[in-house]
Amino acid sequence: MKKLLVMSFVLMLLLVVGCSGGKSESTVPEKTFTIDELAAFNGKDGAPAYIAVDGIVYDVTNVSYWKNGMHNGFEAGRDLTEEIKTKSPHGVSKMNGIPVVGKLTQ
Ligand code: HEM
Repeated sequence: MKKLLVMSFVLMLLLVVGCSGGKSESTVPEKTFTIDELAAFNGKDGAPAYIAVDGIVYDVTNVSYWKNGMHNGFEAGRDLTEEIKTKSPHGVSKMNGIPVVGKLTQ
């Protein structure tokens, strides 16, 4: 009987942890950035490197292709929607799996 109680407690715990994890993964954080605020996150002098694509702000600080906030002549801290679509060979698919930190506002 005691074993059964312990097992149901563990099951419930797993369920709660599983549900909350799934929720936070699919939502864009509430944080918003203006284009001027975004400029500070350029990956230089220890600053994080953020880029905006289609109104979403991504953190590329730990992306190896974005060392020191630079990638093929493009700089972090900017809205690169136009550039990734018209000047890169890969397009927006490369943004899949990059951590999202917020949204871009006017
Ligand atoms: C957001 C704006 C981005 C722009 C404007 C951009 C631009 C470019 C350009 C112009 C090239 C071609 C370089 C050449 O001709 O040698 C390139 C290649 C590449 N980029 Fe980006 N990029 C962006 C984001 C990213 C991100 C977020 C990643 C990785 C997570 C990435 C990974 C790569 C890789 C791996 C290549 C090598 C070619 C390929 O795999 O298609 N890029 N990028």
